[in-house]
Amino acid sequence: MREIIDVEIKASKTALSKCRTDVLAVGHFSDSKGLDKISGELNRKLDGAIELLIKLGDFKGKEGTSTVVYGNDGIRAERVLLVGLGEKKKATVDTVRKAAANAAKRSVTLKVKTLSLALHRAFGGRFDLGATARAMAEGVCFGSYRYDEFVTESENGRLDSLKVELIDSESARIRKLNEGLRRGIIIGQAQSYARTLTNRPGNIINPAALAAEAKKLARGSENLSCMVFDEKQLAAKGMGGVLAVGSGSQNKPRFIVLKYSAADKAAGRRPTVGLVGKAITFDSGGISIKPSAKMEEMKLDKTGGIAVLGTMKAVAELGLSVNVYGIIPSAENLPSGTSYRPGDIITTFSGKTVEVQNTDAEGRMILCDALSYAVKQNCDIIIDIATLTGACRIALGKYMAGLMGNDEKLVKQLQRAAAETGEKVWPMPSGDEYAEEMKSRIADLKNIGGKWGGACTAAAFLRQFVGEKKWAHLDIAGVELFEKATEYTTEGSSGFGVRLLTSYLMNLAK
Ligand code: BES
Ligand code: ZN
Ligand code: ZN
Repeated sequence: MREIIDVEIKASKTALSKCRTDVLAVGHFSDSKGLDKISGELNRKLDGAIELLIKLGDFKGKEGTSTVVYGNDGIRAERVLLVGLGEKKKATVDTVRKAAANAAKRSVTLKVKTLSLALHRAFGGRFDLGATARAMAEGVCFGSYRYDEFVTESENGRLDSLKVELIDSESARIRKLNEGLRRGIIIGQAQSYARTLTNRPGNIINPAALAAEAKKLARGSENLSCMVFDEKQLAAKGMGGVLAVGSGSQNKPRFIVLKYSAADKAAGRRPTVGLVGKAITFDSGGISIKPSAKMEEMKLDKTGGIAVLGTMKAVAELGLSVNVYGIIPSAENLPSGTSYRPGDIITTFSGKTVEVQNTDAEGRMILCDALSYAVKQNCDIIIDIATLTGACRIALGKYMAGLMGNDEKLVKQLQRAAAETGEKVWPMPSGDEYAEEMKSRIADLKNIGGKWGGACTAAAFLRQFVGEKKWAHLDIAGVELFEKATEYTTEGSSGFGVRLLTSYLMNLAK
């Protein structure tokens, strides 16, 4: 099977015209009058080709666009790729991330071996150099990503590796750039790892297979350990929620606990964070079965859990100074003679009882056990991430994840991480009114609320299981998937959450 593309990236002091490469990518703002220093210099070497292209209106510098200009004897690059940066006043580090993704995506399609990126001077002053370089590396990983491990007969293959170089004219900046790139590549590759695991279908990844991946990850890292509870241990612990959801499938549920212990003492003075991710390896809806159209998308119902896995990988490789639990309840939700039923009353790990009114509201049934487990492990801060509700997708569309929580500071910190990483979130409520709807007459809670505000009632259900702990919830049902390829990446899993959660933890560890 094919591995994900091997991306190597480093910064070096190289003059534009001396840069020997297959593709030399340079940015251009849509509202810039004339050419900037970098494209101006290239334009002179290319006998005015760039200027002409812009003058003719063939390239306008709009975000998400790019165009190839072929090299000549004046430069060593085979191609110059002009990448649109949009309006200058709207530029953020995410502009750099997206531009790099666009260039990397095109480079893989062109099957080139080397890509050189020149950072537009506008970013040098306005943003932290390290953060900018990090975004660039993340973008390169994002854009070069392909999911083709099961394609055996493709005519449009790709190369196995891409060598990327960030070229800069000032040697004083190289060290800072390389530091940022190093972090960016760790985060970017963790995201690609998450995307591959998520893209694998239900017949390849079931709960036991996911647990094996988590074990493998932990084996490769000194500071990570992994514990897996099988169905017998789940029964012994009284994890009724996970067991109920998993009861319809031959592929039995698992409860995965990763632990990252920072190497330094300073981490002990910081709060311990519990990341909790929903990993339904396939969600058919169970007895409350879903309609068949697009049901295949429900292989992505493990995204939250895998985002936690990817984040743990990044945290370990970055060696962050903060202690983190990665808690991943995993089950397959199928209808059968052994499935849990509508009407069943389940005793969860917390002791609270839940009346099941819809077996398709299974995410909250496994998450409640995991949240209680995080409380029991004494996590000071708990963040869960889940493809929880179609209602969230309807409310926010495909651009932002829903963000709920019981602690203003935590919500703000996640919003900050979202701004840094381009993985956007939008605040939503989950308070008492919503919780009221989740009360059952014959048990403590029921697993669905009324017709309206489904993302909020689902979050209000989860809130009941964190006690007094600081908690936030990310509903990623709308953002986990690209239905179609974009200018920045191919269709399928987006890997949403890895950059966001890692950034949050990096800020906490500072
Ligand atoms: N996994 C789904 C939510 C989902 C929907 C994720 C679309 C991604 C795209 C979840 O388990 C589910 O089925 N939720 C139900 C809840 C309802 C029964 C209260 C839903 O959203 O319809
Ligand atoms: Zn469901
Ligand atoms: Zn689900």
